Amino acid sequence: MGEKTVVIPGALSSALRDARHICVLTGAGVSAESGVPTFRDAMEGLWADYDPRKLATPEGFAEDPALVWGWYEWRRKLVRDVEPNPGHTALAELDALASRLTLVTQNVDGLHQRAGSKNVVEFHGNLFVDRCFAEGTVVETVDDGEPPACPSCGGPIRPGVVWFGESIPPDALQMAFAAAETCDVYLSIGTSSEVFPAAGLFDIARSAGATTVEINPNVTEQTAHFDFVLSGKSGRVLPELLDSVFRPNL
Ligand code: APR
Repeated sequence: MGEKTVVIPGALSSALRDARHICVLTGAGVSAESGVPTFRDAMEGLWADYDPRKLATPEGFAEDPALVWGWYEWRRKLVRDVEPNPGHTALAELDALASRLTLVTQNVDGLHQRAGSKNVVEFHGNLFVDRCFAEGTVVETVDDGEPPACPSCGGPIRPGVVWFGESIPPDALQMAFAAAETCDVYLSIGTSSEVFPAAGLFDIARSAGATTVEINPNVTEQTAHFDFVLSGKSGRVLPELLDSVFRPNL
């Protein structure tokens, strides 16, 4: 085994070992080590001149469906070509080790599921599910460059992700809020904690008395309010956390 570099406080180890329900919120940072750019990273290459926060709006899509569709095709290809990283794998292991775990993700890349996590709550939808822009119905599409048309109404098809200004899918919202309210330990991993309502799960968990933990190489708006902060990349911190808490004799 390599030398452990993350110091895990004893109180955090006990809280995780004794937890009856762990709630995890993940963000783009968890997929960064797989090669998926985060939203606050500057975009590179073809998309360097675009602000992802402007492309990810219903107004942006209505204005230029081909541009937004092209961006999502690029992201789908990028995600298909990468693999889950040790952070994703550690969370899938935690699923099996914990009495109960609810994994809420803001990521739309499906990498948690590919790493083996079960029952992932997709808070912001899924990159690989397309919907009719007007009707919201799920539609099968092929990526061939052109934005497809809805077979029912002829209108444009959009990616089935949640854009700025849109509502969270009601089932995902209900499951995430229930998990934050009832968990003993709440982990916020790889998210800038700037986008609500996802970032509000932390306050719900904290008010309900959960032990709160942030894992991120950078400081966020919420960092100062967490009980424990493990500073570092999730692909390194999470495997070390699991070893330290659940396999201390390794
Ligand atoms: N490990 C852990 N965290 C990391 C890593 C890493 N290897 N690399 C970067 N980070 C952190 C950054 O420090 C930052 O705090 O991940 C965070 C990424 O922040 P954002 O790009 O804002 O991603 P996220 O919080 O998921 O964004 C929320 O905003 O654009 C919308 O809908 C989109 O779901 C997205 C939401």
